[in-house]
Amino acid sequence: MAKKKPIASMFRSIPVDKLVEADALIELQSLAEEISYHDEKYHSDDSPEITDGEYDSLRRRNEKIEKRFPKLILKNTPSKKVGSKASSKFKKVKHTEAMLSLGNAFSEQDVRDFLDKVKRFLGINDDPELIAETKVDGLACSLRYENRQLIRALTRGDGEFGEDITKNIMTLNDVPKFLPDDAPNVLEIRGEVYMRTKDFFSLNERQEKEGKKLFANPRNAAAGSLRQLDSKITAKRKLHFCAYGWGEHSESIGDTIESFRKNLFKWGFQLNGPAQTFSDINDLIYYYQKVQEARPFMGYDIDGTVYKVNEMHYIDRLGFVGRAPRWAIAHKFPAEKGITVIKDITIQVGRTGALTPVAELEPVNIGGVIISRATLHNEDEIIRKDIRVGDTVIVQRAGDVIPQITEVKKHDVDSKEFKFPTKCPSCGSEAIRIGEDIIRRCVGGLTCPAQQVEKIKHFTSKNAFDIDGMGDKVIELLFEKGIIKTPSDLFNIEEKNSKLHTPIQNWEGWGQLSYNNMINGINEKRTIILNKFIYALGIRYVGEQNAKLLSKRYTSIENFLESMQKATVEESEEFNSLLNIDGIGDKVAQEIIAFFKEKHNIKEIEKLVSLINVTNYEIHTAQTAITNKTIVFTGSLSKMSRAEAKANAEKMGAKVSNSVSKKTNLVVAGEESGSKLKKAQELGIEIISEDQWLEIIKS
Ligand code: IVH
Repeated sequence: MAKKKPIASMFRSIPVDKLVEADALIELQSLAEEISYHDEKYHSDDSPEITDGEYDSLRRRNEKIEKRFPKLILKNTPSKKVGSKASSKFKKVKHTEAMLSLGNAFSEQDVRDFLDKVKRFLGINDDPELIAETKVDGLACSLRYENRQLIRALTRGDGEFGEDITKNIMTLNDVPKFLPDDAPNVLEIRGEVYMRTKDFFSLNERQEKEGKKLFANPRNAAAGSLRQLDSKITAKRKLHFCAYGWGEHSESIGDTIESFRKNLFKWGFQLNGPAQTFSDINDLIYYYQKVQEARPFMGYDIDGTVYKVNEMHYIDRLGFVGRAPRWAIAHKFPAEKGITVIKDITIQVGRTGALTPVAELEPVNIGGVIISRATLHNEDEIIRKDIRVGDTVIVQRAGDVIPQITEVKKHDVDSKEFKFPTKCPSCGSEAIRIGEDIIRRCVGGLTCPAQQVEKIKHFTSKNAFDIDGMGDKVIELLFEKGIIKTPSDLFNIEEKNSKLHTPIQNWEGWGQLSYNNMINGINEKRTIILNKFIYALGIRYVGEQNAKLLSKRYTSIENFLESMQKATVEESEEFNSLLNIDGIGDKVAQEIIAFFKEKHNIKEIEKLVSLINVTNYEIHTAQTAITNKTIVFTGSLSKMSRAEAKANAEKMGAKVSNSVSKKTNLVVAGEESGSKLKKAQELGIEIISEDQWLEIIKS
């Protein structure tokens, strides 16, 4: 079950040096809970709710309090944890050699200090040769080859135990499944799984189209895609792998990192470039600056550079301290932050009707990129951060491709709270929030310009109207030219075309034949069965299954439209009847009602109905031994679940009830049937066993 978001303790705003001991304890407990919640969001769910900066400040506060009150340090203190426990979604496997992380340098001085420590440890005076690589921002993965065949892939997990993601890794083209003969017998190669920026953008576009959650940045998208239970999804996500490290190996992998990289390349791995060897630290810093300049043009995210001692005999001697090697360090890029002013807050309507607030900024240069807009995510976020027009704010681009506002520095003198609109700015329809959804959505899908093209594509798609010759490209073109704006326009194309100065058949790439084919394809679909029609409307959550349930209940388009309009009145008979349809949950019902409350939608449906013929939904259920009977299942069934038994009964025309009454016709009693069985016996109702029930189904 999803963890509930912990609430910050009431002492959060008190400076650490003012905290009294009792309050400090509560604050430490609250911080531990909060940090662990955000760890899980980041590492296991791949869906962080706060920025890295906000997370760091929680950890820093925790450390500060611990420093002041060492007696209060909790057993499960977040300061002793690295990463996050491997999630329970996948099998946990112990790494043969611990999979550790890197220490960080944030300044040139930190890099010099690192080098000094290396020299001191080795007892040498001259700088050792270093190799610099880029630090790819994805998630670490360890590949194990035995007899030159890939046998296992693990995530880092907590460094000791990783998650077994072998099946998913197998779908990556960059990962060799077999190695050439000269590779060691046992070999573990470690590297980073990442997603290219352009693939990240197209994935989010698809996610948005399908009404699914958007990823904040390519790292989260890569993690979310790799940690899928269904490897078919991973296969579709265009993930890449670059190799930079090693674990167990039965033979030498090279005398230097440079030669190791050459071997990796020979064995079929992709490498992260550019890499270069250095003997002068000033050249190293120059490399860092050059890479930083190239960062926006790499095609994937990097969050720094990594420096490693090149010679393996030094590496072996240097070893590890704590959770990081002594022979390598990450030189992180600074968080790309800037300060600016919010000129306006506008609302963007996505293709699924989601209303997203956007801060229009006084343009500001952040890390070489001019930023003039930042997402404000949703209305709760605006309230939480109390963001107002005119505010001076900190904008951050760190890792996240979409800039975010991390902090409000100062409100404008006469600033007012932002009122989030309840009407869609694109079409004027109602924009509503249903249940716990944090997103407000426009319900005028069919007539809302921001959503129309997608709605028409859905309307003509295979399981809806299935119009031949109406591919996405044709729809986009006809929409752009203003020939179709809503689905009903499809059935008026001929009339519109006759009035065009240049008719469609004379457009470039068209001709009489392709025009005729399109019109014939449309005309062939002027008759449609009710369930497909309902599905074609594209009401949120009304997929094919729910469209069938609705059709079964209302059977004709007239009855459906009348009932749905009446159902918009809460507590009306039709409202309750909609809620009572087995399989139609509260959330679905609310979406349906919101859709029919919108006059634009009713008008469009009426127009459609006048142009086409919607046939009744026929219920073809053959007579069975239990047609129209009321059945009660009791006790535990051993050969099927309750849900399956219920679905079978309903398929055969029976009604399933939870309680035994005089109206019950049949009781199926599993193991340990209790009071229901007793009552059935008292009432003299027919009782059968699970096996007898199986016989009925088979018949
Ligand atoms: S070397 C013993 N080289 O960054 C650890 N790591 O923040 C050796 N990373 O855990 C790691 N690019 O997941 C190394 N060129 C590179 C890297 C790299 C990205 C990741 C890796 C590491 C993390 C540390």
